[in-house]
Amino acid sequence: MNKIAVIGGSHFASLKNLSLTHSASVQTPFGEPSAPLSYGILGDKEVVYLHRRGSAEPMAAHKINYRANIWALRDAGVQTIIATAAVAGITPAFQPGDLVVPDQLIDYTFGRENTFWGEDANVTHIDFTEPYSHKLRLLIIQKAKELGYQFQTKATYGITQGPRLETRAEAQMSANDGCHLVGMTGMPEAALARELGLDYACIALVVRNSFEHQSIDISTIEERGQRVEKLIEAIILEA
Ligand code: HPA
Repeated sequence: MNKIAVIGGSHFASLKNLSLTHSASVQTPFGEPSAPLSYGILGDKEVVYLHRRGSAEPMAAHKINYRANIWALRDAGVQTIIATAAVAGITPAFQPGDLVVPDQLIDYTFGRENTFWGEDANVTHIDFTEPYSHKLRLLIIQKAKELGYQFQTKATYGITQGPRLETRAEAQMSANDGCHLVGMTGMPEAALARELGLDYACIALVVRNSFEHQSIDISTIEERGQRVEKLIEAIILEA
């Protein structure tokens, strides 16, 4: 019990030092997760890895079964989830290659199954004032500092519906709302984790700046992806 899960986004394929023990295709009351759960050991920790967009055909963000993903991880004995995400910066301070641990979010998604509560159940209004786990964010930030990484830790992540990218006016609206980043997969994932009482935080890699039409080159993505991987491994060993 009390396993740690890593949800891998696009540009984050695996944890190299994780010794895989087995993988399991599971069912939940909400359907199947995006991919089989990969179980492994890192140090003395039990880890579950889940590829958010699926291991075969990458699925669009609005098609991901977030409820099945989070439910399956909880059923696997997970208490802590480190999620990774590839995002765009929408202010000049967030440039391709930057690593960010967002502390807030704004949900612009629609039509996604965003709660475990059924229509006939007594709805619980979870406290979501701080959408990410404070203690997990602190651990990530501390480890990032120890590794000498440049990290931004005050950032609001705007979650867009996709699959298309936003217009210039939409990006400007999100920036006016107070967002620094946009991406497509941060919600309802974070809220579902909170509904089940799991500790959840996100490590975001900026892959483009939406105003400057810049994108990151593949070798930088790989190098930064490896940094994220090292960071996650250090967190797991310490957690
Ligand atoms: N918008 C939303 N998600 C993204 C983007 C973007 O511009 N770039 C990478 N993921």
